[in-house]
Amino acid sequence: MRIILLGPPGAGKGTLAARLVEHLSVPQLASGDILRSQIRQGSDLGRTVQQYLDSGALVPDEIIVKVMISRLCQPDCSAGYILDGFPRTLPQAQALDASLVELESQIDLVLYLDADAEVIISRLSGRRVCPVCNATYHVDNIPPAVPGKCDRDGAELISRPDDAPDVVRTRLENYRRLTQPLLDYYAGVGRFHRLDGNKDISEIYQQALQVLGGVVSPVDES
Ligand code: AP5
Repeated sequence: MRIILLGPPGAGKGTLAARLVEHLSVPQLASGDILRSQIRQGSDLGRTVQQYLDSGALVPDEIIVKVMISRLCQPDCSAGYILDGFPRTLPQAQALDASLVELESQIDLVLYLDADAEVIISRLSGRRVCPVCNATYHVDNIPPAVPGKCDRDGAELISRPDDAPDVVRTRLENYRRLTQPLLDYYAGVGRFHRLDGNKDISEIYQQALQVLGGVVSPVDES
């Protein structure tokens, strides 16, 4: 099962992907997490991309395409993957398509998580992340068991620097200008489904499971 998750910043792509990963037993390939981890490691790639992430600009297509295509060729992706945050521009989508042809593979599903502007702003301003394992929380909607601490490893939760209001404005503008055209691109290809990202995460997850229902067996959600 190869899935692309599309949607604006803060729509809940990463949160939904984390649930689907457990259900489908395939890895989540989150472009933002991969880039942030390179920045933390201080690699050449991390140093190159830091300025883009800090300002809310998109990393150049040729860089991110190389990173993501090499990631999805790794052995743990042989049974599938969930692409979260990639592709994000038309040239990225075309590069992905070309690689999939070479790999004799294809995308099975494109899930578009749609959410209203005020929902997005409130989610990003309340988001807290674990710098160790990338788990994501929200101070009101999805709080950790112990305030400020990650449920998985107890690390101190932080706000993402690019969730600052001025950077969020740039990210949303880039989304509108560069990523929204992908909706038409994938809607034309088929296997495209819109999910109502304004709902709470359990409802969105159920919507996603319904879409997946024709392909994978249902699970007990209790
Ligand atoms: P990236 O990390 O991919 O950021 P993004 O796409 O802007 O997405 P977010 O991670 O902000 O949001 P999300 O939709 O995953 O929401 P989440 O689940 O966390 O990219 C960061 C940067 O990297 C980019 O700006 C760019 O510089 C670079 N980059 C990455 N990919 C690139 C590419 N392909 N090309 C070029 N550059 C690239 O949820 C948000 C909050 O809401 C959380 O607090 C969560 O707990 C809460 N929440 C989630 N769902 C719900 C719900 N249903 N109800 C209530 N609360 C919810």
